[in-house]
Amino acid sequence: MERRSFVRHLAAGLAGLPLLPHLSAAANEQLQSLAADLRTLAPGPAQWRRVRDEFNYTPGLIHLNCGTIGATPRPIVEALCALLHELESSPYHHTFEGSGLYGRIEGVREKAAAFVGAAADEIALTSNTTEGMNGVATGIDLREGDEVLTTDHEHGGGMVGWQYMAKHRGARIVQLRIPPPARSAQQILDLVAAHLSPRTRVCFFSHVETITGTLMPMARISDLVRPKGILLVCDGAQAPGMVDVDLKALGVDAYASSSHKWMLAPKGSGLLYIRKEAQEQIHPVVVHSGFGAYSASVGTRSWPQLIAHGLTMDFHNAIGRPQVQARCRQLNTYLRQRLDALPHLRCLTPADPELSSPGIVTYALDKGKNGEIAAQLHGQHNIWVKPAAGTYTLPGGLPHEDYNALRFSTHIYNDEAQLDHAADILGDILKAL
Ligand SMILES: Cc1ncc(COP(=O)(O)O)c(C=O)c1O
Repeated sequence: MERRSFVRHLAAGLAGLPLLPHLSAAANEQLQSLAADLRTLAPGPAQWRRVRDEFNYTPGLIHLNCGTIGATPRPIVEALCALLHELESSPYHHTFEGSGLYGRIEGVREKAAAFVGAAADEIALTSNTTEGMNGVATGIDLREGDEVLTTDHEHGGGMVGWQYMAKHRGARIVQLRIPPPARSAQQILDLVAAHLSPRTRVCFFSHVETITGTLMPMARISDLVRPKGILLVCDGAQAPGMVDVDLKALGVDAYASSSHKWMLAPKGSGLLYIRKEAQEQIHPVVVHSGFGAYSASVGTRSWPQLIAHGLTMDFHNAIGRPQVQARCRQLNTYLRQRLDALPHLRCLTPADPELSSPGIVTYALDKGKNGEIAAQLHGQHNIWVKPAAGTYTLPGGLPHEDYNALRFSTHIYNDEAQLDHAADILGDILKAL
């Protein structure tokens, strides 16, 4: 990345940081100081080393499983603790009065909306993707025989709401098989088109799917299904914080995500988007009384948690969302080069950058068991990767395919030396099989 553009970006990002009063202002100072340091450092490794200094890792731990859970930067952890102290110094005042913490919450929702390219009255702050997706699925008036088209690469957190609607409303879930790896966006579009029927009411796909990290061509799918009046619902658990998400450009009607993954927010932080024009058709109870962070629908919540969620967005903005995305991809490309050279591994993630997410790559094992190798990696070497079992199965749906795979997630707190070490250790394990 060009140094000047990085510095310009930092200055712009920081100009937008709110000046927080009280104890949690320390986080703001730490983000300012991170940005100031990044301005003076040479572009590349020195800057990313400085970013890595913001994390609280146990020395020696190599976390390559952000797809399951991210690592929250130290300034955010400290701010969360400070905010909890602040709340408890005067609980009623901070929970219900505008001059307390409560007064900052709507600002978090506005910040979240800007983070994903939406308007504030399209965004709700949730606890995770599962909560958001359950609300969307059960908030659509599905009738007996209405079809929900999805894939065999979804996660239970996105699927369970549709399964509930199948059981209790008689909706029908239709799965298409994602080829591992998919060859092109056109191949996926053709599969979607071939599975649509006059009864299709909803298309439900992950933005970045959880097994192979395939980046679904959502904007092109939207062009295909919106003219037919089909709702496009997206599971974004694996995207914001890795992909610089622009929801309007994606053309989705609803989108739920988990900010405790790639966005690195405190655990139990999520976003739900419902496009304004789709709000008449998608009505989860969570936004029944309005999109406000506090509403009759959601009741009392933990403001420290929500404010810290917003501060994590400031952390990303201070570095730059495109810069974070580029770094995830740079590390992932590096890791792919290393892993492509190892025996017994077959890459399941598309090679086409239009279809491969910046930060996830998955390899099937031709020898050995994924669970045992993952356990060996973390038990003996403190290297954390995700065993990826295979396709999501439904009663009467597509047959289960066992991928016996390992999924690797690369984020800004990793570096090339860690990836070399992980590849060396995995190589030794595989050669000994
Ligand atoms: C695609 C996808 N959807 C949903 C989830 C569930 O996320 P959460 O437990 O944060 O709701 C995950 C978790 O890995 C996921 O990968």
